[in-house]
Amino acid sequence: MTEDLRAAALEAINRSQAAADSDYPVVHLAPPVGRLNDPNGLLVEGGTYHAFYQFSPFHPHRKLVYWGHASSDDLLHWTQHEPAIIPDSYYDRSGAYSGGAVVLDEDEACGLPASSRYQFFYTGNLKDPVTDERTASQCLVTSPDLERFTKWPDNPLLPAHPAGYTAHFRDPQVWRDPDDPGSFRMILGVQREDLTGAALLYRSEDLRSWRLEGELSFPDADGAFDHFGYMWECPGLVRLTDELTGQVRDVLIWCPQGIAPEDEGYENIFPCVYTVGCLEGTELRECDGTFAEVDRGFEFYAPQPFARRPSEPGPVLLVGWAGNASQDDQPSIETGGWVHALTVPRTVALRGGRLLQRPAVPLPADAAALSIVGRRLEGATPIRELDGHGSWHLRLEADPADARWGLRIGDEACCVTIEFLYDDDGAARLVVDRSRSRYTRHGATRTVTLPAGTPPRLEVVHDRSITELFVGDGALVFTLRSFVAPGTTGASVIGESVHPVAGCAVCFD
Ligand code: FRU
Repeated sequence: MTEDLRAAALEAINRSQAAADSDYPVVHLAPPVGRLNDPNGLLVEGGTYHAFYQFSPFHPHRKLVYWGHASSDDLLHWTQHEPAIIPDSYYDRSGAYSGGAVVLDEDEACGLPASSRYQFFYTGNLKDPVTDERTASQCLVTSPDLERFTKWPDNPLLPAHPAGYTAHFRDPQVWRDPDDPGSFRMILGVQREDLTGAALLYRSEDLRSWRLEGELSFPDADGAFDHFGYMWECPGLVRLTDELTGQVRDVLIWCPQGIAPEDEGYENIFPCVYTVGCLEGTELRECDGTFAEVDRGFEFYAPQPFARRPSEPGPVLLVGWAGNASQDDQPSIETGGWVHALTVPRTVALRGGRLLQRPAVPLPADAAALSIVGRRLEGATPIRELDGHGSWHLRLEADPADARWGLRIGDEACCVTIEFLYDDDGAARLVVDRSRSRYTRHGATRTVTLPAGTPPRLEVVHDRSITELFVGDGALVFTLRSFVAPGTTGASVIGESVHPVAGCAVCFD
């Protein structure tokens, strides 16, 4: 008899004690049990946000990837639903891998029945149990209501990789072609037969039959991306208007595996980078080959934007995985049987060719003003408003004359510190140190040189065991897992001369 994989996952979820773990986040989406990795199929519908994600309910005992599903009306509190895609078909029985969503408007039916209003494209992963040979196919699931999910009877849509590439062929993102109404495009990550990474573009008018247009190329990049890692995972394109130049730009965000680390930057096992150009056909024109990491933190990967239907436009919101491949050795596996979380949704903008990211839910106007009293010359000064709270969002602004300032989360014995250091010549550095926390394995301290002129402002979303730093109004973002003492609450301002000129906070617990 075939195993009932849906029932088995529901049983694991029902038995789970994860949410009772004192490290389990309040406003970040984490798995109900087991392991979570990439965000998938993010979409907005009638003001409700749906997030799907790579979900392994039986981790660490058995690696089998489903699509988990949660929704939120405020982008802060998430309700879990039953898994949406179960890896129980011949083409996905080794995992329903990453992909994206399209939400159709009524007048866009593409000849499809109403039951197809929500379209989810994903990779069916199949490993031959005898030879271990991999087959990757691109598959479709549709839903009329985001409660029932049906695999397309003619799956897979793309049964295997095209000639010239290996079976590392995955992570479809589909979007409407803004320059050709009625046409949809798909971008996929691939490995060429010469073992270099690339992205492929496909096109469809009915979302069912897809034709290969070719490899994404960079005619003005002087070969910068011709041999750029051995595989590209999770490529995606977002269209943004540059706030400085007014130009419409296509931003390619992707995860090239196998980029050599630099003195500073690219320290994670695999990076997530972006580059800016103008997509015309299969060419990303006017892209000069410069690229930068999307997030400089210890844990960040595989972000994607929320899909919207044309009649419900809104800002570009991005969510990433606050994790990395092969780094599941976190304390929460022992204490609660769960591992990893997604970042909070971020609004993204482009300014002078650089991405700016800010929490999608801004601090409310009536956020409590911080009273940092009794400032000591040495050591840390507790922020009274955060006493008793382990989940909060705050903003600090320092006096530009301060040579050193920052924040300590947790107590002296078990903490994460975030410090800004300014040299006499004006160079500024951010130093994040989690060497005195409960999770130090994959990076204990990291120094990031700040772009010249970064304003001395820091916004922090800290949520029990995950922290996101938004520096200088979103010019630099740094995501990390921050396992401070279990149940630790509050934070302190640190530094010899710190003098926050403005600060405010809200608490979530
Ligand atoms: C990225 C990734 C994707 C793949 C998925 C499998 O983290 O490796 O390329 O689809 O995770 O879980």
